[in-house]
Amino acid sequence: MIDLSKLAEPGSIEETLLEKIDLNRLPRHIAVIMDGNGRWAKSRNLPRVEGHRSGIASVREIVETSARLELPVITLYAFSVENWKRPRYEVATLMMLLKEYLRKELSTLMDNNIRFTPIGRIDGLDPSVQRELRYAQEKTAANTGLLFQIALNYGGRAEIVDTVNRIMSTLRDREMSDAVIDEDFFAAHLYTANITDPDLLIRTSGELRVSNFLLWQIAYAEIHVTKVLWPDFRKRHLFEAIIDFQSRERRYGGVDPSDKQMFVEAENKSGE
Ligand code: FPP
Repeated sequence: MIDLSKLAEPGSIEETLLEKIDLNRLPRHIAVIMDGNGRWAKSRNLPRVEGHRSGIASVREIVETSARLELPVITLYAFSVENWKRPRYEVATLMMLLKEYLRKELSTLMDNNIRFTPIGRIDGLDPSVQRELRYAQEKTAANTGLLFQIALNYGGRAEIVDTVNRIMSTLRDREMSDAVIDEDFFAAHLYTANITDPDLLIRTSGELRVSNFLLWQIAYAEIHVTKVLWPDFRKRHLFEAIIDFQSRERRYGGVDPSDKQMFVEAENKSGE
């Protein structure tokens, strides 16, 4: 049972927004492109890394709120395969912040029954980061609430290439070289095998791009773009994204079954 008192103070904006959310139609998987840390810092005359540091508070609030809403999965895009091109100091700071976050937040993850998993080319990260990720993953492995995925050294195209290579290795092992691959078999070899696809993709800071994030998995995701910069993104913005998601009509390439006019037209045509 979702405890609403833990999600909003009485009389707050959050409470008003929460009342607009249909708790029976929540997204099952929210994916987030956390963008705008650099601009947030620049607008305050601060070094870029201060934007990342402040972004941690948003990560904390959004993960905790997702757990309280009893969402099954959230995936945050924290470091892409392209992010290595950033200045060395910025990359080192991001990795340091990640380690610090994992160490500090482990008890909160445990208290909220959150299971943590990194996705991406994890073996390409510094061994000290890998150690910290493994530790958090192992400690939270038996938790049964929110699955919290962090995409690190992640690229959607890289994932698809890695998936093809995993499939080739499965086929070799099973001596099935002439097998025909279908979508389910392919998806079962993604980093996100067995995880429901995102039904809501949020991007902060107003950019209209998917930036190589979960390319296979977002095929039918609803996209919510907000101008809010990631370090300013709070619970109320998550609620707004969910309200926006619930206002969409999801047809998966089909038609709206409640569109009576269309069915009348089809009947008339078949009777012609
Ligand atoms: C994009 O902003 C943000 C990132 C590349 C990193 C996101 C990382 C964090 C929020 C902190 C660490 C994460 C965790 C999970 C502990 P940008 O720098 O591209 O912003 P800009 O487009 O304004 O320059």
